[in-house]
Amino acid sequence: MDKLLIRGGHPLHGEVTISGAKNAALPDLCAALLTAEPVVLRNVPRLQDVATMLQLIRNMGVEAEHASDGSVRIDASRLSTPEAPYELVKTMRASVLALGPLLARFGEATVSLPGGCAIGSRPVEQHIKGLQAMGAQIVVEHGYMIARLPEGRTRLQGTRITTDMVTVTGTENFLMAAALAEGETVLENAAMEPEIVDLAEMLIKMGARIEGHGTSRITIQGVERLHGCDHQVVADRIEAGTFLCAVAATGGDVVLRHARADHLGAVLDKLRDAGVQIEAVEGGLRVKSAGRLKGQSFRTTEYPGFPTDMQAQFMALNVISRGAVSVTETIFENRFMHVNELVRLGAKIQIDGKVAMVEGVERLSGATVMATDLRASASLVIAGLVATGETVVDRIYHLDRGYDCMEAKLRAIGADIERI
Ligand code: EPZ
Repeated sequence: MDKLLIRGGHPLHGEVTISGAKNAALPDLCAALLTAEPVVLRNVPRLQDVATMLQLIRNMGVEAEHASDGSVRIDASRLSTPEAPYELVKTMRASVLALGPLLARFGEATVSLPGGCAIGSRPVEQHIKGLQAMGAQIVVEHGYMIARLPEGRTRLQGTRITTDMVTVTGTENFLMAAALAEGETVLENAAMEPEIVDLAEMLIKMGARIEGHGTSRITIQGVERLHGCDHQVVADRIEAGTFLCAVAATGGDVVLRHARADHLGAVLDKLRDAGVQIEAVEGGLRVKSAGRLKGQSFRTTEYPGFPTDMQAQFMALNVISRGAVSVTETIFENRFMHVNELVRLGAKIQIDGKVAMVEGVERLSGATVMATDLRASASLVIAGLVATGETVVDRIYHLDRGYDCMEAKLRAIGADIERI
């Protein structure tokens, strides 16, 4: 099992290229199932989750290759098995995104229930309710969602969908299903993340008729067919935010190519309040930090609020900043697994339900710590970059799921980090 060995204390200098967004590439790959014509996706990151999604659609009979230039050419014309089996879905919950497109194009889908993961139970009942409202008949049997259209129906029906809470992949499933449905679909409390906008823009290139993406109310007029397209995946705002926190923690001066300030508003506000200098430069963001920062309280909320996917990384920053602050996680019920590991490095953190109270310390001391989920592992890497001595982060397969060569990118800007 791979580990990362980090020797802390090195400020970061230089330039990093931010990869395409994992949470845009995954729905975009599923959107390609909606047409029999070839689709080209560019700037697709090299991640375990992307590899899993490619395996999933190949399993269905789809041709999909990840070229060395980061592009993926998909041909779903000979899709023969509209299924997403448990052994693949259990490693990547985003497989649920196959449900909407398969139903929309083939009128049937058998998709394993994803099961929970480290950060929470992660149910998908909203996805089922919304697709049933569009006319799908979905039963859950033997751990699978078995979905089909009623006898005599060849298309889903447009309708109004209001979910009980904002759901990112739920919104994405409904967007893809509604694109080929009969009539108009209105999503009332839709997710507004940039990855939703990226998917909608790809669907529009394919001939879909969508308005309001990026707001909480999205209207889709269904069409009969969608055609192929050539689409560039949006840059990963969470990878960019992770590197911003790393430089803020270690000190230094780094340019993040392709990072977009307009996708990171809440995070940039908190970093600037902490004392980090961040400015937009040609084609990206420049981040400069020196000396000890001022801790920042924050609470995670849906976009455009502070993203839950940045909670662990910013907590690592708070751990070594001045002052006592509170971190409130409102999206997932169990997303503080990094806390115990940070405490092993010398952090002072008390958890009380959804709130973690962090008291900044002057220094951390290196230790062996264990990654538990994707963003928790990123948080431990950031802490290791500032801890004195050696930090070993174990189980970094979690990191590989969502970051494209993180240690190589960090080494290129001066970190003493290697995979062992
Ligand atoms: C997406 O997950 C992201 N994954 C997550 O990123 C991200 O943390 C999350 O959105 C929130 O921003 C992808 O885009 C592939 P939700 P998703 O449905 O869609 C509850 C990462 O680190 N809920 O918006 O699964 C749910 O339990 C990953 O890259 C239901 O109860 O999240 C959660 O509490 C981690 N029933 C809340 O809603 C449902 O049917 C938000 O979940 C659906 C969701």
